[in-house]
Amino acid sequence: MKRHLISAADLTRDDALLILDTAEELAQISSRSIKKLPTLRGRTVVNLFFEDSTRTRISFEAAAKRLSADVINFSAKGSSVSKGESLKDTALTLEAMGADGVVIRHGASGAPHRLATWVHGSVVNAGDGTHEHPTQALLDAFTMRRRLGDLEGRKITIVGDVLHSRVARSNVLLLHTLGADVTLVAPPTLFPIAVDTWPCQISYDLDAVLPKSDVVMMLRVQAERMNAAYFPTAREYSRRYGLDLARFGRMQEHAIVMHPGPMVRGMEIAAEVADSPRSTIVEQVANGVTTRMAVLYLLLGGSEPAIGGDQ
Ligand code: NCD
Repeated sequence: MKRHLISAADLTRDDALLILDTAEELAQISSRSIKKLPTLRGRTVVNLFFEDSTRTRISFEAAAKRLSADVINFSAKGSSVSKGESLKDTALTLEAMGADGVVIRHGASGAPHRLATWVHGSVVNAGDGTHEHPTQALLDAFTMRRRLGDLEGRKITIVGDVLHSRVARSNVLLLHTLGADVTLVAPPTLFPIAVDTWPCQISYDLDAVLPKSDVVMMLRVQAERMNAAYFPTAREYSRRYGLDLARFGRMQEHAIVMHPGPMVRGMEIAAEVADSPRSTIVEQVANGVTTRMAVLYLLLGGSEPAIGGDQ
């Protein structure tokens, strides 16, 4: 495995399966009353968040703590970044403090890649601009495997604002590596220009794709990244691309509904669908912790076994 996790494309099929299998092992400890392993004792993980986050930041913090790492949480607000300090100077400060791992979320696509050239520790991309979010793709794959088994040949449909979604890109890359058959569905204005070079199919017609899908993953419309009108009205978007009860009823019985959160109920997904037993939205959050534990363990843990030793 590479030293950093910047893109889902950094992972070979074997790397990805190793992470998912390790996460499965680590999931055992999440059901214990004492959810802690000594594996990363003495290592320092810095969470460097320049963009808002609820799930991802908390999840990485919980993951590092469950492995007994020391965790330093840094958010750009209230730090010297608001005084104009550059990413490079921030990186050098972390370096001086001896960070073994740096988890970074940044509004600029490519920021984790730059950071990786300045620090000695492992860099984990927790979302960079509209580019990638590889640990989200891993936790999504973990969730799908738990619900549906092997992903080889599974039909996975990802619906919504693909243009601004780092979740979509990372999922397409990882799911393709794992042998799944991915279709992206969006209005033409919400596809990136080079989407035809991605290893997936594209469609503008949700109703045509829905009945064949094993997984339907809904994406949030990322209004904060939009500087133009990409569709006429929210109502119009919702009518064509929202997962309402009628559409949900046309899905196969075993098919599941996913969403990375934060979701806008009533816009891309109806509340009844989000709360149905076939929705994995809450499970995805729980699985995020175990998947990120596996990533941190494999990048920082060296040769000690993940479970075992003096627990
Ligand atoms: C996503 C993100 O930040 O890229 N959320 C997440 O990490 N769970 C998706 C989004 O913001 O819509």
